[in-house]
Amino acid sequence: MTPPNCPRRVGILTGGGDCPGLNAVIRAVTQSLLHQCGAEVIGIEDGFAGLLCDPPRARRLDWDSVSGILLLGGTILGSSNRANPLASPQATALTLANVRRLGLDALVVIGGDGSMTIAHGLAQQGLAIVGVPKTIDNDLYGCERSFGFDTAVATATEALERIQTTAHSHRRVMIVETMGRWAGWIALEAGLAAAADAILLPELDYDLPTLARHCQARLQRERYSVICIGEGAKALGGAATLQAAAMPAAQPPDQHPYPQTHPLPTEAGAPQRLGGVAHHLCHALQPLLQAEVRATVLGHVQRGGSPTPSDRVLATLYGNQAAQLLLQGHFGRMVTLSGGQLGHIALAEVAQQQRTVPPGHPLLQAAQQIGVCLGQPEPG
Ligand code: F6P
Repeated sequence: MTPPNCPRRVGILTGGGDCPGLNAVIRAVTQSLLHQCGAEVIGIEDGFAGLLCDPPRARRLDWDSVSGILLLGGTILGSSNRANPLASPQATALTLANVRRLGLDALVVIGGDGSMTIAHGLAQQGLAIVGVPKTIDNDLYGCERSFGFDTAVATATEALERIQTTAHSHRRVMIVETMGRWAGWIALEAGLAAAADAILLPELDYDLPTLARHCQARLQRERYSVICIGEGAKALGGAATLQAAAMPAAQPPDQHPYPQTHPLPTEAGAPQRLGGVAHHLCHALQPLLQAEVRATVLGHVQRGGSPTPSDRVLATLYGNQAAQLLLQGHFGRMVTLSGGQLGHIALAEVAQQQRTVPPGHPLLQAAQQIGVCLGQPEPG
């Protein structure tokens, strides 16, 4: 029997940086809606950019279009992390008009904190929206695990293991930089999983002399050191390493790959671009050590590839849960995992928030207790 609240036509989009598991969510939402109530599912192309075009860019998703995509990295719909329907009243009006033109009763937004903030703004304008937490950074408020994180940790762990070979062979100190923006989850979990000797996080400013002493002691004892550093980390009294200043200006809207009718925000409106802290640390550490110090930045490698089995399952659960929220008429909510249980939280609570590694987290305590250097000055 068709559920009483069954929407007729549901839009789905992927916003922000790509992430392993996006296709698994698209598949689960589509299959769940088709199977349970036969709703029409419309895939919006290139995230919110597809709703900022005239006409909007969208296509119908059926059983065939989501067949075989569970394993695929990236997103079959495309994504954008610049297009912002809240950038101006005109952009908001065009987005709302396009939702009406497409005949959508509801919209599923799969994205990170930026997309959830936009989703909340659009929900306030009256759109029926359900959010699904996506990000390799694992930093979405109210959700203990976003899909994509497990895959990123697996990739970073493998990279750290491979680096260890060279570190050992050449008696080097190797620094490996992970993504994660202002949250250190990837660095912390990958560092622990790959037995890094030092783990430096954005949440804990590191003391350079302490780190140097730790590496020097390791060199005498074990020949080498591997340091895993989150891209947002910084030295005590220092600043985070940003890339944006070195980048050329964004293309003017008329040359941009998305054929927009509404201009995309300029580079100045885009989020700060982190990256390069490993090289920064390499230069600072080298004069303090007798071994050679080298840096590797993992970058977008962490966002690519097929999702791990665990991410495929989580993304499928999240996609199905989003469909259940639609069927139950629970809008303005984001799917969550809390205490191992699926649930949902108001978008209003998630918007503009971040979930960073809290002081005293059990993983931090364990790292410290087994002798991993977190760059914290020794007491006294
Ligand atoms: O939020 C995911 C993420 O991969 C961050 O870890 C990273 O800082 C950022 O996106 C990079 O974004 P872009 O691909 O736009 O450079």
